[in-house]
Amino acid sequence: MSDPKKLFVKTYGCQMNVYDSERMVEALGTKGYVTTDTVEDADMVLLNTCHIREKASEKLYSDLGRLRKLKLARPDLKVGVAGCVAQAEGAEILRRAPVVDLVVGPQSYHRLPEMVEAKGRVIDTEFPAEDKFDHLPERRAMRGPTAFLTVQEGCDKFCAFCVVPYTRGAEVSRPADRLMAEARDLVARGVRDITLLGQNVNAYHGAGAGGEWTLARLIREMAGIEGLARIRYTTSHPNDMDDDLIAAHGDVPALMPYLHLPVQSGSDRILKAMNRKHTSDSYLRLIERIRAARPDILFSSDFIVGFPGETDADFEATLALIREVRFGAAYSFKYSARPGTPAAEKAAVETPVADARLQAVQALVTAQQRAAQDAMVGREVTVLYEKAGRMPGQMVGKSDHLHAVHVTDSEGRIGDLVRVRVTSAVTNSLGAEPVGR
Ligand code: SAH
Ligand code: SF4
Ligand code: F3S
Repeated sequence: MSDPKKLFVKTYGCQMNVYDSERMVEALGTKGYVTTDTVEDADMVLLNTCHIREKASEKLYSDLGRLRKLKLARPDLKVGVAGCVAQAEGAEILRRAPVVDLVVGPQSYHRLPEMVEAKGRVIDTEFPAEDKFDHLPERRAMRGPTAFLTVQEGCDKFCAFCVVPYTRGAEVSRPADRLMAEARDLVARGVRDITLLGQNVNAYHGAGAGGEWTLARLIREMAGIEGLARIRYTTSHPNDMDDDLIAAHGDVPALMPYLHLPVQSGSDRILKAMNRKHTSDSYLRLIERIRAARPDILFSSDFIVGFPGETDADFEATLALIREVRFGAAYSFKYSARPGTPAAEKAAVETPVADARLQAVQALVTAQQRAAQDAMVGREVTVLYEKAGRMPGQMVGKSDHLHAVHVTDSEGRIGDLVRVRVTSAVTNSLGAEPVGR
């Protein structure tokens, strides 16, 4: 047999891209590719891109510049661009970067195995009617204890700042029976913690036994899979949190007490301009209802500062909302105009003002994150070991609340679920020891 060909994959952007990259690696595995961590060794480099902010496509072009040099020395090197920049700017990428051999949009990944064997440069950014995942070949190897599972893709919400409805297309839910089968398969391959993914995951409404299933129904059914200890889902829109999903947080033990619920702004004026279709008050009431179902739940969120027209008072309202909710984590971004979106027509807030706001939000959420971590010290939590730590006799994993935890445990194995006592909190993780040892 000839030597396997080596594939280097770089993934930018959201978790959906992480999942897609895994599936592309499996599909290319059927063509004899194995992954490598060193780009210099690779026969093929695949860049799975993100288009959410301006910086994201800049990064792609600087990576392509480096690959051009590599390809001068190794003309056989194949370079592929996948993901949301491929979808949005595919033809321009081919024009601007001669180093690129193939461009494939997120809905066309099932064509990747034939595309790598094509002669000449190829592009596919269609939105075909079929589910790409149905046609992606798989290699069923054992794998680590955590996995992503994409349950729906695309978005019909059209927030005024966002490219996702254009790059990922309209909202489509995958059929429930396929997802149940995929979840069972993942568990059989060693997975104990599944994160259900979608750009609007809680809008899930896939075909299932007895009619359409909601996300709550899907979670309740998956919780019955033996060996599956933990279920999470991301990302949700506040308007799609239905009563049953809220209830599930109280009565499905496998559903973990952590929820990413982007709010973007605390100002109703800005929320309206963003086309978010919720208010700061409706968001706060929603948080209250979810906390009533699951009092210890931790929330995280996304914030955009410097959206066109954002005044000091609007920004103060965002800080006030953050103070009221007390987040366990949060991601904040400076608004960046995306071509083709409605907000891009309007003037953004001046850069120094937006920079100062970004710093202020980040300082506040960092303090809240720190407080949430400190509050764990002395408590018993359950950790799923994902890998060995850097210190000898140390294991690293996540708690139910998604805190990274370093556990002193020389007997620990990857995949173990272990009760531990938290002994310390540092910036981004907790230190702990197994209980009763
Ligand atoms: N579907 C998810 C994820 C969208 S992208 C959701 O609805 O939340 C992830 C985050 O990127 C968004 O929540 C938003 O905070 C940020 N984002 C999206 N477009 C942006 C833009 N043009 N400028 C700055 N941040 C943006
Ligand atoms: Fe983008 Fe809004 Fe859809 Fe999220 S809900 S993907 S922010 S358009
Ligand atoms: Fe980025 Fe596309 Fe995800 S734009 S955030 S990779 S859906």
